[in-house]
Amino acid sequence: MAPLPRFAAVIVAAGKGLRAGHTLPKQFVPWRGKPLLRHSVETFAGLGAGEVVVAISADAQDLARAALEGIAGVRLVPGGATRQESVRAALEALGPAAPYVLIHDAARPDVPPPVVERLLAALQDHEGAVPVLPLVDSIAIAGGALMASTADREALRRVQTPQAFRFSDILAAHRAWTGERSAGDDAQVARAAGHEIALVEGDERLRKLTFAADFSSGDAMVRIGTGFDVHRLAPGEELWLCGVLVPHDEGLTGHSDADVALHAVVDAILGASAQGDIGDHFPPGDARWKDASSDKFIVHAVALAEEAGYRVGNVDVTLICEAPRIAPHREAMRARLAGLLGVDLKQVSVKATTTERLGFTGRGEGIAAQAVATLVSREDHGI
Ligand code: CTP
Ligand code: MG
Repeated sequence: MAPLPRFAAVIVAAGKGLRAGHTLPKQFVPWRGKPLLRHSVETFAGLGAGEVVVAISADAQDLARAALEGIAGVRLVPGGATRQESVRAALEALGPAAPYVLIHDAARPDVPPPVVERLLAALQDHEGAVPVLPLVDSIAIAGGALMASTADREALRRVQTPQAFRFSDILAAHRAWTGERSAGDDAQVARAAGHEIALVEGDERLRKLTFAADFSSGDAMVRIGTGFDVHRLAPGEELWLCGVLVPHDEGLTGHSDADVALHAVVDAILGASAQGDIGDHFPPGDARWKDASSDKFIVHAVALAEEAGYRVGNVDVTLICEAPRIAPHREAMRARLAGLLGVDLKQVSVKATTTERLGFTGRGEGIAAQAVATLVSREDHGI
């Protein structure tokens, strides 16, 4: 990316975020691992903004300080009763620190740097610039519940933020704004003051998170882990597979109940959250786990994943053996595993295969299991 012209940034985060329906105002809700507000502040600071002024409502100053801890060059100012008033307060506080200012909604956490580059480039020839996207649906003008008229979609654009202006122009435009109408954005304020606004290409990633579903749908963060385990078969042992006692003339030997399938699932879950393996967490020599049934390992692995901000998405286990036949026990195994994982039956699959009498499983010396697990970011951690 070419060096950017000198710019400052205003981020408005003084709204109530009512439509998102969280107890916290949406700008402080964790999303992809950190408070929503922190994302765009970090991006602008990282892009070299001379100063970042953030408008915060008077009663959320502590929340904002915690959300932005450790980021240099950020100043908080009290916001106003409307978005326009919040922007104006931030611009007044900013002062002419840089010739250009980018004004941005905290509710749009994902700011692709190429958009910033396009906006600042457009300011070389224009008084203002906004990122826009075309519409895909056709357009109706509503008259109550009836279609009153239509509009030409080709002429319409969705307008996003950040919006870029020459600092002195936009400050004067905000001072001149009468406040009789509500301003949806700063381009409207600038146009009312007679400025020409260039349209540059926006980006879907700039979408504004508005409703509860915006925080939980779409780009779910999914992590995948795999697990593999083998135990030896011996006479006189119980055969536990997927937490189910399977009648058979031999059973598996080894640590705890030697439930090879559950061990593979534990490793898949630990692998998906990059938290080591079964030996790290349940060493055979540790009295806490001695003779513990393997279902305790599963419950513990799920708890570790949850602490890391994930829930189980789905699990798929394959048992590899000539005997016993798994099919008659498969549904019981799925149900048991789903119960241990705390998920729905539909999220669990148990399969079995032989190795055509080849190798140690083919000779009946042992049973192998492999598992794949997905973990999905928990909604309250933001996805
Ligand atoms: N905003 C602001 N000051 C206000 C109102 C809004 O700084 N008085 C900010 C919001 O914090 C948000 C941006 O303007 O970053 C866009 O507003 P919107 O998405 O409507 O957020 P809220 O007004 O907070 O949400 P809602 O309308 O759902 O209550
Ligand atoms: Mg609002």
